[in-house]
Amino acid sequence: MMSQDELKQAVAKAAIQYVPVDCIVGVGTGSTANFFIDELARIKHKIRGAVASSEASAKRLQGHGIEVLSLNDAGSLPVYVDGADEITRHLHMIKGGGGALTREKIVAAASKKFICVCDASKLVDVLGKFPLPIEVVPMARSSVARQLVTLGGQPKLREGFTTDNGNIILDVHGLSIMNPVELESELDHIAGVVTNGLFARRGADVLLLGTAEGVKTMTV
Ligand code: A5P
Repeated sequence: MMSQDELKQAVAKAAIQYVPVDCIVGVGTGSTANFFIDELARIKHKIRGAVASSEASAKRLQGHGIEVLSLNDAGSLPVYVDGADEITRHLHMIKGGGGALTREKIVAAASKKFICVCDASKLVDVLGKFPLPIEVVPMARSSVARQLVTLGGQPKLREGFTTDNGNIILDVHGLSIMNPVELESELDHIAGVVTNGLFARRGADVLLLGTAEGVKTMTV
């Protein structure tokens, strides 16, 4: 029986084949993305560098001697590799468990292909069991929270946490998300919401899922 970490490592390894030679790679955040960064270190002579979706990932990349570029200097990227907190067979995701959702969404949007790397526990039929992270401008905390309640959710402030962009996170419990594409847009229209953790309008292009039977590749 493979441990969860072994499954994460297996998918991180499998993601390397999606990295074109001589490119700048978009790199996500979290424990699975960390395994990917460690795999990237082995082929670092074959890439030009990376754009990171968090300070934490930038540090880890630099620790391996991989050059970290700003997205503005890098331009459009061929590929973005990141984990998820939940993912469906339609490759819609909830992200932001690590609080890096805004930069993740930006780097993903600037990338041609989104490769999602997950262990099997992340695959769900319906999104929402994992509380949906929403990054909010601090002064809008209460007003955004009230509007989330009218949408049927129970928002909870992530205590003692500030995002890389200086904002707060509301984790919304109790949602059963039947229409992730619609809800993503609806949440983005609430004044004070910076980014919501639904990645559905721009979902993943490829899911590499770590299972006991090996790495499964899924596309939409
Ligand atoms: C970070 O903000 C999240 O979007 C991560 O992608 C997510 O939390 C996955 O992390 P793990 O790979 O540690 O489960």
